[in-house]
This record gives sequence, C-alpha cells and structure tokens, in this order.
Amino acid sequence: MKQQTAHREFWGSKMGFVFAAMGSAVGLANIIRFPYLVGANGGAAFIAIYLICLVVLSFPIFIAELLLGRACHRNPAGAFEEIGGTKTWRYAGCFTILTGFFVSGFYAVVSGWVVGYLADAVQGSLLVIDSSVGAESFFYMHLRTPLWSLGMQLCFVLLAAVILFSGVRNGLERASKFLMPVLILLLLYMAMTGLDADNAQNGLHFLFDLQWHEVTPTACLLALGQAFFTLSLGQGTMITYGSYLNRKTNLFVIGVPVVVADTVISILGAIAVFTIVFSVGMEPDSGMALMFKTLPLAFNTMANGYFLSISFFALLALAALTSQISAMEPAIAYLMDERGWTRKRSVVAVSIGVFLLGIPCAMSYDVLNLFDFIATGILIPMGGLLVTLLLGWRWGIAKSIRQLNFGLEGVTFNQPLLELYFTLCVKYLAPLAIFAIALQVLFT
Ligand code: PHE
Repeated sequence: MKQQTAHREFWGSKMGFVFAAMGSAVGLANIIRFPYLVGANGGAAFIAIYLICLVVLSFPIFIAELLLGRACHRNPAGAFEEIGGTKTWRYAGCFTILTGFFVSGFYAVVSGWVVGYLADAVQGSLLVIDSSVGAESFFYMHLRTPLWSLGMQLCFVLLAAVILFSGVRNGLERASKFLMPVLILLLLYMAMTGLDADNAQNGLHFLFDLQWHEVTPTACLLALGQAFFTLSLGQGTMITYGSYLNRKTNLFVIGVPVVVADTVISILGAIAVFTIVFSVGMEPDSGMALMFKTLPLAFNTMANGYFLSISFFALLALAALTSQISAMEPAIAYLMDERGWTRKRSVVAVSIGVFLLGIPCAMSYDVLNLFDFIATGILIPMGGLLVTLLLGWRWGIAKSIRQLNFGLEGVTFNQPLLELYFTLCVKYLAPLAIFAIALQVLFT
C-alpha cells in the first residue's frame, strides 16, 4: 500500500484526537438544530429514533471513515483512489472534499452571525430586545446590512485560518483541547440556570414526553440527517482526521467517547434551551429563529440575562469554530498531499474560497437555506453512501475488517461481535437507509 507519511503530521495523543473529533462533532447542530428537531417531532420518541440511527448507521460510518483515513494516511481523494483503484473513485473522494468545502461556506456565514451577536451581547445591545417583534427587527436589521454579515463572516474565517495555519497538533488539537472544556463549562452553566428557573418542568415535558404520533417518516429522515451531520460525516472530515491516526489506535476506544460526548452535549443543549424558553412563558420557534430571536428575548426576561446571553453566544461561537476548522481541513489536506502545496498556502487558498462561497449566503437568507438543504439533504448522505460502497463492496468487507482489527488486538470485548456489527451496518443497513432517504428527497 502506497504510503504518504513522509511529512505528514499525526495527533500528539489519543486524547488529542478525541478532543479534536469532539470539537468537530459538537457544533451549531447540537445546540440549535437538535433541540428544535426534538421539540417539533415527538420529544423523547424522536430522541429514541435518533439514538437508533446513531448506533446503527452513523457510528459505524464514523468508524469506517476513520478506518479509511488511517489505512491510507492520505486526504479523501487519495484515500478513495488508493482503495478503489480507479480514477472514478478518486472523483468520489473529491466529491466528499467539495462537500466539506461547500458546508464550510455557509457554516461560516451563520457562525459569523453568532460572533456578531456575541459582540452585541458583550456591548449590551441585545438588552434592548423586549418583544418578539423587536427581536425580529433586530435580526433583520443585521441581515439587511451586508457589511455586517460579510464582516462577521470574514472575522470568523480569519479565526479559523489562524488555527489551521498551526497544523494538526498545534492548531486543530491544541485549540480543541482548550476550547472544548470551556464549552462544556458554559453549557453546564446554561443547563443549570435553565433547570433552576421557574416552570422548568414545562420545558422538560415538552422535550421528554413521549409523543409517538408525531414520529412521521419525515421525522425519521430528519433524525438520520441529524445523526450524520452532527458526527461530521460524508464530507471528508473524519477521513482526514483518521489519516492523522497511527495504525495501532483502537478505533472503537477513541470513537465511543466522541459519540457519547456529542450525544450528551446535544441533550444538555436541548435541556438548557427549552427550560429557559418555557420558564419565561414563551413558545419555542424553530430553526435559526430559535437562536437569534427567541433566546435573546428569553434571556432579557431573566435576572442574569446579560451574562446568559454572553455565555450562550460564546458557547455557540466556540462550538462553531472547532467545527469550521474540521470542515476546511480536508481541502487543505488535499492541496498539501496531492499538489504539494505548503500548509500556509493551502490554508490561504481554502479560506479565500470559503469566504467567496459564503458571500451569496451572507447576502440572501434564501440562498443560505438552499445551501443548507443541498448539503444536509443531498451531498452529505451521498458522501456517506460512497464510503459504505467503497469499504463494504469495492474493497470488500473482509479487507475492511482486517484494517479494523489493527489496534483491536487484546480487546476483551467480543471481537467477532464487533466484526458482525460493522459488517451488517456498513455493508447492508447504511447503504439501504441512505437509498431510502435519497428516494424520499427525490419524490416528495
Ligand atoms: N458537526 C458539526 C455540527 O454539529 C457540523 C459540521 C459539519 C462540522 C461538517 C464539520 C463538518 O454543527
């Protein structure tokens, strides 16, 4: 197998990888998207479906992506070509890199708004919001100021670029090791404040009451899409992160904490958001409105609103930053591995590209929603499908299992059972489920 490890960096430690992968996984989707999906689709019943998707589909694909990267120690295009053996597979790998690049484009715009709101929160400007009409006009006032949107987006991309310049160990790993604990502390503060507020139980009922009748087929698909997006699958990120792992790493031992932490953080985020919203007698909005309209208004009706709004937007900004860098890294790794560019030059090129791609989204809310739909509804599931076809069918499950077993030696857990689980999910269940989503997207 061709190796491209000469100048390749590796994670400094297993914990370093765990923090970086957690940083990638925990993002805006955990703290904003997960809560409103749960609230709108049957509460605890949705959580149950989501957990099933996570165990049966996302987690095995997450392991498969890490395995692919670790097997080749190359960027996704190189890895797909090496394993698939043809140029067509190389294009499939390029497709996943382009998906990551595409996601980075619109993710940076929303994250830029978060940074802008954080600056507003610090200055106390959010305190003027005292009604839902006020919250709405505050939001649209910002959106109608393209210089604000573009400026914030630029700040955010620059922040990401600064981290990316420093490379795998000193950039991705060090930033995540520092930022993730801060994020967890902020989240605990928010959740405790919510649980402590009056009528917190109304929020908990909204969130956790089992409403099986609300679980429609569309809700199942949303759960699946969320389970993919939250683990940063289907867009080269985990393949690239896996390529910085050495062969001796046990993928299950490093993968399980990432998925568990991501899930716990989603649930804590949902608890914080809904207890706070219900404690002030409000109804939760869905989508972006929850983040930029409902919550600022809810904070202002609470005693410590100033600190809450700063904590909340700081939390979001940290979560977004560690995800953004991971979405940009596959394209950077590609330019370095395949074109021989330096890291600095690659980071500059990708950052400029991401900024330019985000411009239409910063100028139009509709374009932003369209990009979001194309990425999460089409490109990401396709990327996931390509990985399962490559490992499960093209390379063959026997070879994939042999790769999987590197690092698994000596585990006390039943190894044949892990192999069966991996085979069943990666070879059969995941491709079938993704086909089902594709059909649903095409025919509804
Ligand atoms: N996982 C991130 C989130 O939950 C989103 C993301 C997608 C990050 C793709 C990197 C790559 O918000």
